[in-house]
Amino acid sequence: MKIEGKEYRTIWFENNVVKIIDQTKLPHQFTIKDLKTIKDVINAIKQMEVRGAPLIGATAAYGLVLAIIENNDQSFLKKSAEDLISSRPTAINLKWAIDRMVKKLSGVNSNKILEIAKNEAKEICEEDIKFCENIGLNGLKIIEEIYNKKKGTVNILTHCNAGWLATINWGTATSPIYHAHKKGIPIHIWADETRPRNQGANLTSFELNEEGIKNTIIADNTGGILMQRGEVDMCIVGTDRTLANGDVCNKVGTYLKALAAHDNNIPFYVALPSSTIDWNTKDHKEIPIEERNSEELSHMEGFDENGELKKIQIYPKKSKAKNLAFDVTPAKYVTGLITEKGICEASINGLNSLFDD
Ligand code: MRU
Repeated sequence: MKIEGKEYRTIWFENNVVKIIDQTKLPHQFTIKDLKTIKDVINAIKQMEVRGAPLIGATAAYGLVLAIIENNDQSFLKKSAEDLISSRPTAINLKWAIDRMVKKLSGVNSNKILEIAKNEAKEICEEDIKFCENIGLNGLKIIEEIYNKKKGTVNILTHCNAGWLATINWGTATSPIYHAHKKGIPIHIWADETRPRNQGANLTSFELNEEGIKNTIIADNTGGILMQRGEVDMCIVGTDRTLANGDVCNKVGTYLKALAAHDNNIPFYVALPSSTIDWNTKDHKEIPIEERNSEELSHMEGFDENGELKKIQIYPKKSKAKNLAFDVTPAKYVTGLITEKGICEASINGLNSLFDD
């Protein structure tokens, strides 16, 4: 998708360097950052220079490529894989990508391993783009249906950033939106600000602006009143891990939006590539929910009038704060899962109907 009219992907590999768009600087500064070592990659994932489930998976895959360049040795590769998996615990795509790379590289001769690793990391990216595009084409049908009934602007609420910046291109939740816009369907997006990291304001609104899609940022607690007033036609969110039973783990606050949507009979869809399905975890209580530094809540960062990055404290010095990054929306509140293979019920039967393998 575009930034200032120029097409970008969120990650690419050039001259043995991984190139990323540093998302901690958006929307105020557009910076392309070089990741040259496995340490750089782990730091970029932890600090959320790259974030979003599919993108951290792809970045981790390229992390193993850099690990091989650094030290072409099996035990270093194994340690790097472990360090990458633990860099952020909730999004299953991270483990999925590392497992896929490790499987591909096991038993491969050391003089061939780098080439095979580069190809597999590239394949993970290309596949994600294709899957996200298909998610868009499948989700477009739902937006079209609403538009055909309403004959007016379709208002869609989304939480956090499940946009192209969270993937390699297209996004998951935003892909149906981009497809609808390309088709000329009038749409307007309510972008939840998504405290404390403000991915909705800083990233979703930013990327929609760059594509010329109407959007309005709202405080995280505003969705309920908008739904009661009939100003939301549907919700689409992304996910960091969806269990085989259809329970959806996503950015904290998603659950409350789903409850409000349920109370107001508003369809609540979750868009995801199959790399985000966790087929093994049975109970959502077993999902490791990332708890981040409470400073993300107590302090705010932004650019002052001189363009300098400033961090200020907004909470009382003596107050404690708890910063859980994700929550779980039970399957019963999810109208459907929009995947690369089609739309299904959020349940084991629904998922099995699309993914029989
Ligand atoms: O903490 P983040 O910004 O990595 O969280 C991102 C989300 O919660 C997204 O909704 C999710 O990863 C889906 S991305 C297509």
